[in-house]
Amino acid sequence: MSSALLATFEPDATPADPLNFTSAQGDVSAREVGDVVVYQFRNKTFRLDKTKARERLAGKKVINGHRSAELNVLPLKYHEAYRIYKQMKANHWEPDVIDMSKDAHQWNTNALSAKERWIIEMSIGYFSAAEGIVGDSVLHVIEDNLTAAELKHASLRHIAEESIHMDSLLHIIGSLNIDLDEVTAKFQDIPSIFKKNAFITKHMPALKMGIDLTQTVNKQAFAKALFAITQVMEGTQFYALFAMVLSLHRQNKMTGIGQMFQYTLRDESNHIALGRYILTELINENPDIWTNEFRLELCEFMREGVELEKEFVSDCLPEDIVGMRQQEFLDFVEFNADRRLQGLGLPTLYKVRNNPFQWLDEVIFLKKEKNFFETRVTEYQTSGSVQNSNEEDLI
Ligand SMILES: [Fe+2]
Ligand SMILES: [Fe+2]
Repeated sequence: MSSALLATFEPDATPADPLNFTSAQGDVSAREVGDVVVYQFRNKTFRLDKTKARERLAGKKVINGHRSAELNVLPLKYHEAYRIYKQMKANHWEPDVIDMSKDAHQWNTNALSAKERWIIEMSIGYFSAAEGIVGDSVLHVIEDNLTAAELKHASLRHIAEESIHMDSLLHIIGSLNIDLDEVTAKFQDIPSIFKKNAFITKHMPALKMGIDLTQTVNKQAFAKALFAITQVMEGTQFYALFAMVLSLHRQNKMTGIGQMFQYTLRDESNHIALGRYILTELINENPDIWTNEFRLELCEFMREGVELEKEFVSDCLPEDIVGMRQQEFLDFVEFNADRRLQGLGLPTLYKVRNNPFQWLDEVIFLKKEKNFFETRVTEYQTSGSVQNSNEEDLI
Protein backbone atom coordinates (compact mmCIF):
# COMPACT_ATOMS: atom_id res chain seq x y z
CA MET A 1 0.00 0.00 0.00
CA SER A 2 1.29 3.45 -0.84
CA SER A 3 2.63 5.74 1.88
CA ALA A 4 0.41 8.44 0.34
CA LEU A 5 -2.67 6.53 1.53
CA LEU A 6 -3.65 9.03 4.13
CA ALA A 7 -2.53 12.18 2.33
CA THR A 8 -5.01 14.98 2.93
CA PHE A 9 -6.13 17.67 0.53
CA GLU A 10 -8.11 20.85 0.59
CA PRO A 11 -11.72 20.71 -0.68
CA ASP A 12 -11.77 21.19 -4.50
CA ALA A 13 -8.03 20.63 -4.72
CA THR A 14 -6.72 17.76 -6.83
CA PRO A 15 -5.16 15.07 -4.67
CA ALA A 16 -1.50 14.43 -5.37
CA ASP A 17 -2.19 10.71 -5.68
CA PRO A 18 -5.77 10.22 -6.93
CA LEU A 19 -5.85 6.57 -5.85
CA ASN A 20 -4.69 7.14 -2.28
CA PHE A 21 -6.26 10.01 -0.43
CA THR A 22 -8.68 11.05 2.28
CA SER A 23 -10.53 14.33 2.02
CA ALA A 24 -9.99 16.97 4.67
CA GLN A 25 -13.41 16.23 6.13
CA GLY A 26 -12.66 12.53 6.13
CA ASP A 27 -15.91 11.72 4.25
CA VAL A 28 -14.24 10.58 0.99
CA SER A 29 -11.27 8.30 0.68
CA ALA A 30 -9.60 6.09 -1.85
CA ARG A 31 -6.99 3.43 -1.41
CA GLU A 32 -5.36 0.98 -3.73
CA VAL A 33 -5.15 -2.62 -2.63
CA GLY A 34 -3.33 -4.69 -5.20
CA ASP A 35 -5.36 -4.35 -8.41
CA VAL A 36 -8.41 -3.06 -6.59
CA VAL A 37 -9.16 0.60 -5.88
CA VAL A 38 -11.52 1.07 -2.95
CA TYR A 39 -13.54 4.30 -2.84
CA GLN A 40 -15.37 5.16 0.34
CA PHE A 41 -18.10 7.82 0.15
CA ARG A 42 -19.51 8.23 3.65
CA ASN A 43 -21.34 4.91 4.19
CA LYS A 44 -20.87 3.59 0.65
CA THR A 45 -17.92 1.55 -0.61
CA PHE A 46 -17.02 0.97 -4.25
CA ARG A 47 -14.42 -1.62 -5.24
CA LEU A 48 -12.99 -1.08 -8.76
CA ASP A 49 -11.17 -4.15 -10.00
CA LYS A 50 -8.56 -3.13 -12.59
CA THR A 51 -7.92 -6.74 -13.61
CA LYS A 52 -11.32 -6.67 -15.33
CA ALA A 53 -10.17 -3.75 -17.46
CA ARG A 54 -7.01 -5.64 -18.38
CA GLU A 55 -9.04 -8.72 -19.27
CA ARG A 56 -11.24 -6.58 -21.45
CA LEU A 57 -8.18 -5.13 -23.18
CA ALA A 58 -6.74 -8.61 -23.72
CA GLY A 59 -10.10 -9.74 -25.12
CA LYS A 60 -10.08 -7.07 -27.80
CA LYS A 61 -9.29 -8.44 -31.24
CA VAL A 62 -9.78 -7.34 -34.83
CA ILE A 63 -12.06 -10.36 -35.34
CA ASN A 64 -13.27 -13.06 -32.92
CA GLY A 65 -12.70 -10.75 -29.98
CA HIS A 66 -14.87 -9.92 -27.03
CA ARG A 67 -18.24 -8.85 -28.39
CA SER A 68 -20.46 -6.64 -26.34
CA ALA A 69 -23.67 -4.81 -27.00
CA GLU A 70 -21.93 -1.44 -26.80
CA LEU A 71 -19.58 0.49 -29.00
CA ASN A 72 -17.45 1.42 -26.01
CA VAL A 73 -13.93 2.10 -27.21
CA LEU A 74 -12.40 1.74 -23.75
CA PRO A 75 -9.93 0.40 -23.04
CA LEU A 76 -8.41 1.80 -26.24
CA LYS A 77 -6.18 -0.70 -27.98
CA TYR A 78 -5.97 0.21 -31.68
CA HIS A 79 -4.66 3.75 -31.28
CA GLU A 80 -3.86 4.21 -34.96
CA ALA A 81 -7.51 3.60 -35.90
CA TYR A 82 -8.53 6.35 -33.51
CA ARG A 83 -5.91 8.68 -35.00
CA ILE A 84 -7.22 8.00 -38.52
CA TYR A 85 -10.77 8.52 -37.25
CA LYS A 86 -9.78 11.95 -35.95
CA GLN A 87 -8.06 12.73 -39.23
CA MET A 88 -11.21 11.78 -41.14
CA LYS A 89 -13.30 13.95 -38.84
CA ALA A 90 -10.93 16.90 -39.34
CA ASN A 91 -11.39 16.61 -43.11
CA HIS A 92 -15.19 16.76 -42.96
CA TRP A 93 -16.78 18.56 -45.89
CA GLU A 94 -20.23 19.12 -47.35
CA PRO A 95 -20.83 18.90 -51.11
CA ASP A 96 -23.64 21.42 -51.32
CA VAL A 97 -21.49 24.32 -50.12
CA ILE A 98 -19.43 24.01 -53.29
CA ASP A 99 -20.35 26.52 -55.92
CA MET A 100 -21.20 24.79 -59.19
CA SER A 101 -22.25 27.85 -61.21
CA LYS A 102 -19.01 28.04 -63.19
CA ASP A 103 -19.20 24.30 -63.95
CA ALA A 104 -22.81 24.64 -65.08
CA HIS A 105 -21.86 27.56 -67.33
CA GLN A 106 -18.97 25.62 -68.90
CA TRP A 107 -21.14 22.53 -69.30
CA ASN A 108 -23.94 24.41 -71.00
CA THR A 109 -21.81 26.61 -73.26
CA ASN A 110 -19.72 23.82 -74.77
CA ALA A 111 -16.54 25.12 -73.16
CA LEU A 112 -15.37 21.53 -73.00
CA SER A 113 -14.44 19.33 -75.94
CA ALA A 114 -16.49 16.18 -76.53
CA LYS A 115 -13.64 14.08 -75.10
CA GLU A 116 -13.43 16.20 -71.97
CA ARG A 117 -17.20 15.94 -71.49
CA TRP A 118 -16.91 12.17 -71.80
CA ILE A 119 -14.41 12.09 -68.91
CA ILE A 120 -16.87 13.96 -66.70
CA GLU A 121 -19.73 11.70 -67.77
CA MET A 122 -17.69 8.55 -67.11
CA SER A 123 -16.70 9.89 -63.68
CA ILE A 124 -20.28 10.45 -62.69
CA GLY A 125 -21.35 7.09 -64.15
CA TYR A 126 -18.62 5.09 -62.47
CA PHE A 127 -18.43 6.79 -59.09
CA SER A 128 -22.19 6.95 -58.55
CA ALA A 129 -22.16 3.14 -58.41
CA ALA A 130 -18.70 2.67 -56.90
CA GLU A 131 -19.26 4.86 -53.82
CA GLY A 132 -22.35 2.82 -52.99
CA ILE A 133 -20.48 -0.46 -53.46
CA VAL A 134 -17.75 0.64 -51.07
CA GLY A 135 -20.25 1.91 -48.46
CA ASP A 136 -22.29 -1.29 -48.60
CA SER A 137 -19.23 -3.55 -48.43
CA VAL A 138 -17.64 -1.69 -45.54
CA LEU A 139 -20.94 -1.85 -43.66
CA HIS A 140 -21.94 -5.48 -44.24
CA VAL A 141 -18.65 -7.21 -44.90
CA ILE A 142 -16.03 -5.30 -42.92
CA GLU A 143 -17.63 -3.43 -40.03
CA ASP A 144 -20.04 -6.21 -39.19
CA ASN A 145 -17.23 -8.72 -38.71
CA LEU A 146 -14.94 -6.45 -36.69
CA THR A 147 -15.14 -6.88 -32.93
CA ALA A 148 -13.00 -4.00 -31.58
CA ALA A 149 -15.05 -0.85 -31.01
CA GLU A 150 -12.47 1.68 -32.20
CA LEU A 151 -12.11 -0.22 -35.49
CA LYS A 152 -15.88 -0.27 -35.84
CA HIS A 153 -16.11 3.47 -35.13
CA ALA A 154 -13.50 4.29 -37.75
CA SER A 155 -15.27 2.01 -40.26
CA LEU A 156 -18.59 3.67 -39.53
CA ARG A 157 -16.97 7.02 -40.28
CA HIS A 158 -15.65 5.49 -43.50
CA ILE A 159 -19.21 4.48 -44.45
CA ALA A 160 -20.51 7.97 -43.63
CA GLU A 161 -17.89 9.48 -45.92
CA GLU A 162 -19.02 7.25 -48.78
CA SER A 163 -22.48 8.76 -48.28
CA ILE A 164 -20.92 12.23 -48.59
CA HIS A 165 -19.23 11.17 -51.82
CA MET A 166 -22.51 9.81 -53.14
CA ASP A 167 -24.15 13.08 -52.16
CA SER A 168 -21.47 15.01 -54.06
CA LEU A 169 -22.33 13.09 -57.23
CA LEU A 170 -26.01 13.96 -56.84
CA HIS A 171 -24.97 17.60 -56.37
CA ILE A 172 -23.02 17.40 -59.63
CA ILE A 173 -25.85 15.66 -61.50
CA GLY A 174 -28.37 18.23 -60.23
CA SER A 175 -26.15 21.22 -61.00
CA LEU A 176 -25.37 20.11 -64.55
CA ASN A 177 -28.86 18.79 -65.16
CA ILE A 178 -27.57 15.43 -66.34
CA ASP A 179 -30.09 12.74 -67.24
CA LEU A 180 -30.29 10.31 -64.30
CA ASP A 181 -31.32 7.37 -66.47
CA GLU A 182 -28.24 7.85 -68.58
CA VAL A 183 -26.03 7.80 -65.47
CA THR A 184 -27.66 4.61 -64.25
CA ALA A 185 -27.27 3.00 -67.67
CA LYS A 186 -23.53 3.69 -67.64
CA PHE A 187 -22.71 1.37 -64.78
CA GLN A 188 -24.90 -1.33 -66.24
CA ASP A 189 -24.16 -1.04 -69.95
CA ILE A 190 -20.49 -0.06 -70.18
CA PRO A 191 -18.60 -3.37 -69.98
CA SER A 192 -15.44 -1.97 -68.38
CA ILE A 193 -17.47 -0.43 -65.52
CA PHE A 194 -19.67 -3.48 -65.09
CA LYS A 195 -16.67 -5.84 -65.06
CA LYS A 196 -14.74 -3.73 -62.54
CA ASN A 197 -17.65 -3.66 -60.12
CA ALA A 198 -18.50 -7.34 -60.55
CA PHE A 199 -14.86 -8.29 -59.99
CA ILE A 200 -14.75 -6.50 -56.62
CA THR A 201 -18.13 -7.65 -55.36
CA LYS A 202 -18.28 -11.26 -56.58
CA HIS A 203 -17.06 -12.70 -53.25
CA MET A 204 -19.08 -10.41 -51.04
CA PRO A 205 -22.48 -12.18 -50.81
CA ALA A 206 -21.06 -15.11 -48.80
CA LEU A 207 -19.32 -12.74 -46.40
CA LYS A 208 -22.53 -10.84 -45.83
CA MET A 209 -24.26 -13.99 -44.62
CA GLY A 210 -22.04 -14.25 -41.56
CA ILE A 211 -19.24 -16.79 -41.71
CA ASP A 212 -17.26 -18.69 -39.10
CA LEU A 213 -14.20 -16.52 -38.74
CA THR A 214 -12.36 -19.04 -36.60
CA GLN A 215 -11.56 -21.01 -39.78
CA THR A 216 -8.46 -19.95 -41.67
CA VAL A 217 -10.13 -20.13 -45.06
CA ASN A 218 -12.87 -17.76 -43.91
CA LYS A 219 -10.38 -15.40 -42.26
CA GLN A 220 -8.60 -15.27 -45.60
CA ALA A 221 -11.87 -14.49 -47.39
CA PHE A 222 -12.39 -11.61 -44.97
CA ALA A 223 -8.81 -10.38 -45.44
CA LYS A 224 -9.22 -10.56 -49.20
CA ALA A 225 -12.43 -8.51 -49.04
CA LEU A 226 -10.64 -5.85 -46.99
CA PHE A 227 -7.83 -5.84 -49.54
CA ALA A 228 -10.26 -5.75 -52.48
CA ILE A 229 -12.26 -2.79 -51.22
CA THR A 230 -9.59 -0.59 -49.69
CA GLN A 231 -6.43 -1.38 -51.65
CA VAL A 232 -7.62 -2.53 -55.07
CA MET A 233 -10.82 -0.55 -55.55
CA GLU A 234 -10.28 2.62 -53.49
CA GLY A 235 -6.49 2.50 -53.64
CA THR A 236 -5.94 1.61 -57.29
CA GLN A 237 -9.11 1.64 -59.38
CA PHE A 238 -10.23 5.11 -58.26
CA TYR A 239 -7.07 7.04 -58.92
CA ALA A 240 -6.77 7.31 -62.71
CA LEU A 241 -10.19 8.86 -63.06
CA PHE A 242 -9.47 11.21 -60.16
CA ALA A 243 -6.32 12.22 -62.01
CA MET A 244 -8.23 12.89 -65.24
CA VAL A 245 -10.81 15.12 -63.55
CA LEU A 246 -8.13 16.95 -61.59
CA SER A 247 -6.13 17.41 -64.80
CA LEU A 248 -9.15 19.25 -66.18
CA HIS A 249 -9.28 21.21 -62.95
CA ARG A 250 -5.68 22.25 -63.52
CA GLN A 251 -6.78 23.66 -66.86
CA ASN A 252 -9.48 25.65 -65.05
CA LYS A 253 -12.24 23.36 -66.33
CA MET A 254 -15.07 22.09 -64.13
CA THR A 255 -13.44 23.44 -61.01
CA GLY A 256 -16.43 22.75 -58.73
CA ILE A 257 -16.27 19.05 -59.58
CA GLY A 258 -12.49 19.23 -59.30
CA GLN A 259 -12.75 20.66 -55.82
CA MET A 260 -15.13 17.92 -54.73
CA PHE A 261 -12.83 15.27 -56.19
CA GLN A 262 -9.94 16.85 -54.32
CA TYR A 263 -11.77 16.41 -51.01
CA THR A 264 -12.92 12.94 -52.01
CA LEU A 265 -9.37 11.95 -52.88
CA ARG A 266 -8.17 13.12 -49.50
CA ASP A 267 -10.91 11.03 -47.83
CA GLU A 268 -9.89 8.04 -49.92
CA SER A 269 -6.32 8.34 -48.69
CA ASN A 270 -7.64 7.86 -45.14
CA HIS A 271 -9.81 4.91 -46.20
CA ILE A 272 -6.79 3.23 -47.76
CA ALA A 273 -4.73 3.87 -44.62
CA LEU A 274 -7.49 2.50 -42.38
CA GLY A 275 -7.89 -0.62 -44.52
CA ARG A 276 -4.13 -1.20 -44.50
CA TYR A 277 -3.99 -0.78 -40.73
CA ILE A 278 -6.89 -3.16 -40.03
CA LEU A 279 -5.43 -5.71 -42.42
CA THR A 280 -1.99 -5.46 -40.82
CA GLU A 281 -3.39 -5.90 -37.31
CA LEU A 282 -5.58 -8.77 -38.51
CA ILE A 283 -2.54 -10.58 -39.91
CA ASN A 284 -0.48 -9.90 -36.77
CA GLU A 285 -3.19 -11.48 -34.65
CA ASN A 286 -3.89 -14.31 -37.12
CA PRO A 287 -0.60 -15.35 -38.71
CA ASP A 288 -2.32 -18.46 -40.14
CA ILE A 289 -3.85 -16.13 -42.77
CA TRP A 290 -0.53 -15.04 -44.20
CA THR A 291 0.61 -18.09 -46.13
CA ASN A 292 2.72 -17.80 -49.26
CA GLU A 293 -0.23 -19.03 -51.32
CA PHE A 294 -2.49 -16.39 -49.89
CA ARG A 295 0.04 -13.63 -50.45
CA LEU A 296 0.34 -14.70 -54.09
CA GLU A 297 -3.45 -14.83 -54.34
CA LEU A 298 -3.63 -11.18 -53.27
CA CYS A 299 -0.97 -10.19 -55.81
CA GLU A 300 -2.86 -12.00 -58.56
CA PHE A 301 -6.08 -10.34 -57.49
CA MET A 302 -4.37 -6.96 -57.78
CA ARG A 303 -3.01 -7.90 -61.21
CA GLU A 304 -6.51 -8.75 -62.42
CA GLY A 305 -7.83 -5.50 -60.95
CA VAL A 306 -5.13 -3.57 -62.82
CA GLU A 307 -5.99 -5.21 -66.14
CA LEU A 308 -9.65 -4.27 -65.72
CA GLU A 309 -8.65 -0.77 -64.74
CA LYS A 310 -6.52 -0.35 -67.85
CA GLU A 311 -9.50 -1.33 -69.99
CA PHE A 312 -11.54 1.27 -68.12
CA VAL A 313 -8.87 3.96 -68.56
CA SER A 314 -8.86 3.23 -72.30
CA ASP A 315 -12.63 3.74 -72.36
CA CYS A 316 -12.39 7.02 -70.44
CA LEU A 317 -9.47 8.38 -72.48
CA PRO A 318 -9.32 6.51 -75.81
CA GLU A 319 -6.53 8.78 -77.08
CA ASP A 320 -4.31 11.60 -75.88
CA ILE A 321 -5.92 15.00 -75.53
CA VAL A 322 -4.57 18.39 -74.48
CA GLY A 323 -2.85 18.03 -71.12
CA MET A 324 -3.52 14.28 -70.86
CA ARG A 325 -1.50 11.37 -72.19
CA GLN A 326 -3.17 7.98 -71.99
CA GLN A 327 0.10 6.18 -71.27
CA GLU A 328 0.69 8.27 -68.15
CA PHE A 329 -2.66 7.19 -66.75
CA LEU A 330 -1.92 3.54 -67.50
CA ASP A 331 1.44 3.92 -65.74
CA PHE A 332 -0.32 5.58 -62.84
CA VAL A 333 -2.56 2.53 -62.39
CA GLU A 334 0.52 0.30 -62.13
CA PHE A 335 2.29 2.75 -59.85
CA ASN A 336 -0.65 2.78 -57.43
CA ALA A 337 -1.01 -1.01 -57.52
CA ASP A 338 2.63 -1.36 -56.53
CA ARG A 339 2.45 1.10 -53.69
CA ARG A 340 -0.62 -0.62 -52.24
CA LEU A 341 1.16 -3.99 -52.41
CA GLN A 342 4.30 -2.51 -50.92
CA GLY A 343 2.29 -1.01 -48.06
CA LEU A 344 1.37 -4.54 -47.00
CA GLY A 345 4.82 -6.01 -47.49
CA LEU A 346 3.73 -7.83 -50.64
CA PRO A 347 5.95 -8.15 -53.72
CA THR A 348 5.41 -5.43 -56.30
CA LEU A 349 4.28 -6.29 -59.82
CA TYR A 350 5.20 -3.45 -62.14
CA LYS A 351 8.24 -1.54 -60.86
CA VAL A 352 7.08 1.85 -62.18
CA ARG A 353 9.80 4.05 -60.76
CA ASN A 354 8.22 7.48 -60.78
CA ASN A 355 4.76 8.65 -60.02
CA PRO A 356 3.62 10.29 -63.28
CA PHE A 357 1.29 12.53 -61.29
CA GLN A 358 3.37 13.67 -58.35
CA TRP A 359 1.27 16.83 -58.22
CA LEU A 360 -1.80 14.71 -57.40
CA ASP A 361 -0.35 13.50 -54.12
CA GLU A 362 0.32 17.09 -53.23
CA VAL A 363 -3.28 17.98 -54.00
CA ILE A 364 -4.43 15.59 -51.27
CA PHE A 365 -2.88 17.82 -48.66
CA LEU A 366 -4.26 21.18 -49.61
CA LYS A 367 -2.06 23.27 -47.39
CA LYS A 368 0.84 22.50 -49.67
CA GLU A 369 -1.03 23.88 -52.66
CA LYS A 370 -2.45 27.13 -51.34
CA ASN A 371 -2.67 29.02 -54.60
CA PHE A 372 -2.82 26.09 -56.93
CA PHE A 373 -6.51 26.27 -57.65
CA GLU A 374 -8.54 29.30 -58.46
CA THR A 375 -11.48 28.09 -56.46
CA ARG A 376 -12.37 29.99 -53.34
CA VAL A 377 -11.89 27.46 -50.57
CA THR A 378 -8.39 26.08 -50.66
CA GLU A 379 -8.09 24.84 -47.10
CA TYR A 380 -11.05 22.79 -46.05
CA GLN A 381 -10.23 21.43 -42.64
CA THR A 382 -12.41 21.90 -39.62
CA SER A 383 -11.13 24.44 -37.13
CA GLY A 384 -9.03 23.02 -34.34
CA SER A 385 -7.89 20.13 -36.46
CA VAL A 386 -4.25 19.27 -36.56
CA GLN A 387 -2.31 18.65 -39.72
CA ASN A 388 -1.25 15.04 -39.91
CA SER A 389 2.30 14.69 -38.70
CA ASN A 390 3.16 11.93 -41.13
CA GLU A 391 1.22 12.66 -44.27
CA GLU A 392 3.12 10.22 -46.46
CA ASP A 393 1.66 7.34 -44.49
CA LEU A 394 -1.83 8.33 -45.53
CA ILE A 395 -1.36 8.45 -49.26
FE1 LIG B 1 -15.55 7.29 -51.72
FE1 LIG C 1 -13.60 5.58 -49.87
